[in-house]
Amino acid sequence: MTEDRSLEISGESLAGLIDAARDRVLAHIESLPRQPSADTEGGVALAQSLIEPLPEEGRPYEELLDLLFQTVIPKSFNTAGPGYLAYIPGGGLPHSAVADLISDATNRYVGVFAAAPAVAEIEANVVRWFCQIVGYPKAAGGILTSGGSLSNFSALVTARRERLPENFLSGVIYASDQTHHSVQKAVMLAGFPPGNVREVATDALFRIRIDALERAISEDRSAGRTPFALIGNAGTTNTGAVDDLMALADLAQTHRLWLHIDAAYGGFFALTERGRRRMAGIERGDSIALDPHKSLFLPYGTGALLVRDAAALKRAHELSADYMPPMQQDLDLPDYNLLSPELSRDWRGLRVWLPVKMHGIEPFRRNLDEKLDLTEWATEELRRIDGIEILAEPQLSIVAFRFVRPGLDDTELNALNRDLMNRVNNKKRVYLTGTMLKPSEASARFAIRICVLSFRTHIDRLREGFEDIRAALREV
Ligand SMILES: Cc1ncc(COP(=O)(O)O)c(C=O)c1O
Repeated sequence: MTEDRSLEISGESLAGLIDAARDRVLAHIESLPRQPSADTEGGVALAQSLIEPLPEEGRPYEELLDLLFQTVIPKSFNTAGPGYLAYIPGGGLPHSAVADLISDATNRYVGVFAAAPAVAEIEANVVRWFCQIVGYPKAAGGILTSGGSLSNFSALVTARRERLPENFLSGVIYASDQTHHSVQKAVMLAGFPPGNVREVATDALFRIRIDALERAISEDRSAGRTPFALIGNAGTTNTGAVDDLMALADLAQTHRLWLHIDAAYGGFFALTERGRRRMAGIERGDSIALDPHKSLFLPYGTGALLVRDAAALKRAHELSADYMPPMQQDLDLPDYNLLSPELSRDWRGLRVWLPVKMHGIEPFRRNLDEKLDLTEWATEELRRIDGIEILAEPQLSIVAFRFVRPGLDDTELNALNRDLMNRVNNKKRVYLTGTMLKPSEASARFAIRICVLSFRTHIDRLREGFEDIRAALREV
């Protein structure tokens, strides 16, 4: 037998690895505001040049860090930078990166409570804090996931198992035409054909129409189908629209539907007074998807699913085997493998716990309030520009607009606005993305979105963005 200890790194070598990475990370983070808001030209060729067979021999660490920091990482959207106003920005609080270093280096096992009780409990605290933020009762619980898509998936599976028999194919799910496509995907992965989702029309504010919803439910019932789940949006991706959650909760109660609220983008705005008001009724949802990697500014890979009755989540996911250790009965002492599809997984609670414990929640609340203010400011700036039409007033931190030139039809306006957006983006100080609003109508309108959600985005960058929008308007 040949003993091999080559993977057991000495303390000194490990310190060298951490120090060198630390220097690169510090320089990278310090340069974020100066980096282009997006730089992907030649990205495909670069990606192709990186395809390689399994290496037998190692390469020097510095060479690999050079490759990462000089070549690989820069060819991208600057998702962590202050100018990233596209899609739903992430942010990436560096405190969480340090937490990941700790959790990965200690590599404790969090799937089973008995394996590391206090480690699991620290993560359980995070889930309880989130329940508190949305106003859930003591019986609530949940899990941290890798993101909103997986939260929506586990929610749909829980709804299915709670409300439908084993033969569930008559079950129908209702969601507005503004719902994120991860819900449609969750429905598909939960075993339903796509036709079991009713896409319900929205009103002028892009909120689900309650009358259309009631009609669809009654039609399905008359046809012998089984309405069982309703998706509410607390911040759509397109425009940040928040459905009338109180009305949805009433309707869900009347028709015995499981109400799942997709608050992946909007959820943490519940920390602010304005957000709380706009999302009134969120606490009446049977389950809620939240994404700390969106509105809590954490690095990608951090989602959460909260369920008002934690026991339902357990009933939906619980399964054991002979080789498993005894599990806990008290839901305050969570065995995460019984609450989620995962068994082994990272200790992702620490990346939430560390920054929240270090700062307290107040700076997060202030940051979210700032994002709401910045979006209102941006909307007022847009109003000052001749020819700008606001297509979606902000309900949270997204405003959607287009430039209208008299005499052009919608197809021509769509092309003009795509061109305008590309010109703004080419100046590389802010990065915007667009969407099609009301695509089911004959005249689908291309909307440019401004989504303010990074803790690094402040008024100075938005002012620069507006200089670029005005300059691009002069160009077109
Ligand atoms: C409203 C909404 N729901 C769900 C998702 C999916 O979340 P994730 O990308 O974390 O899987 C997103 C992503 O942007 C979203 O905006």
